[in-house]
Amino acid sequence: MCLFIVIEGIDGSGKTTQAKMLFKKLIRRGYRVALLAEPTGSVYGRKIREKLREGNYTAEELYELFVKDRMLNAKNIQSLLRWGYIVILDRYYISTIAYQGAQGIPIDRILNDHKNLPQPDIIIILDIDPVTALGRLKKKDTFETREFLERVREIYLRIPEILKNFDGQIEVINADRDPEAVGEDIWKMVRDRISCGE
Ligand code: TYD
Repeated sequence: MCLFIVIEGIDGSGKTTQAKMLFKKLIRRGYRVALLAEPTGSVYGRKIREKLREGNYTAEELYELFVKDRMLNAKNIQSLLRWGYIVILDRYYISTIAYQGAQGIPIDRILNDHKNLPQPDIIIILDIDPVTALGRLKKKDTFETREFLERVREIYLRIPEILKNFDGQIEVINADRDPEAVGEDIWKMVRDRISCGE
C-alpha cells in the first residue's frame, strides 16, 4: 500500500485548496496520485447535495445517504491503493463523525458502521475559527451557520481521542494562515511517509 491521505475540516477551512496543492506537488514529482472527494458524484452524492441545498432532510436520512455514498467510494479507494496510487481524499468518515455527530447521530454507531473500510495512513484536520471560515465562503448551504460549525469544530478537535484505536497518524493544523504555509506543513508530513517508488 502506497499512501492514503484524508483532509478534513469545517466548511471554509481550505480543504479543497490544500488537497489540490498536495495533488500537484505529488504529480510534479512523478507519483501516481488520485484526488477524490466526498460527497462523490454518485446518485447518493447528488441526492445529498440536493438535500443540503434545499434543507429538507432528517439527520437519519442524511446519515444513511452519506454511508451509502461512502461504501461505493471505498471500493474505488481500495482498488486505487492496490494499483499503487497515492490517494488524497477530501472528506471521509471523519466528516460524518463531526457533522452527523453534531446532528445527534451517536458517534459509536458511526464508528461501528465504518470499521471495515480502508483506513487512512494520515488524517489531516484543518482547524479554523468558524467566523473566519464563514467569511471565506461565497454561497452557504444549510450546515454553514456559526453555531453549527462551532459544534462540528469541537468534535473535529476531539478526533484524536475519539479514534484512539486508530493506528495511523492524525494531525491538527492551524488553517488560519497563508495557504502556502499550511501547504508546506502538509507537504513535510506527507513527504516522510511515502512508501512507494517514484
Ligand atoms: P463539501 O466538502 O463542502 O462538498 P462541496 O465542496 O462539493 O460542496 O461537502 C458538502 C457538505 O457535506 C459539507 O457541509 C459537509 C457535509 N458532509 C457531512 O455532513 N457529512 C459527511 O460525511 C460528508 C462527507 C460531508
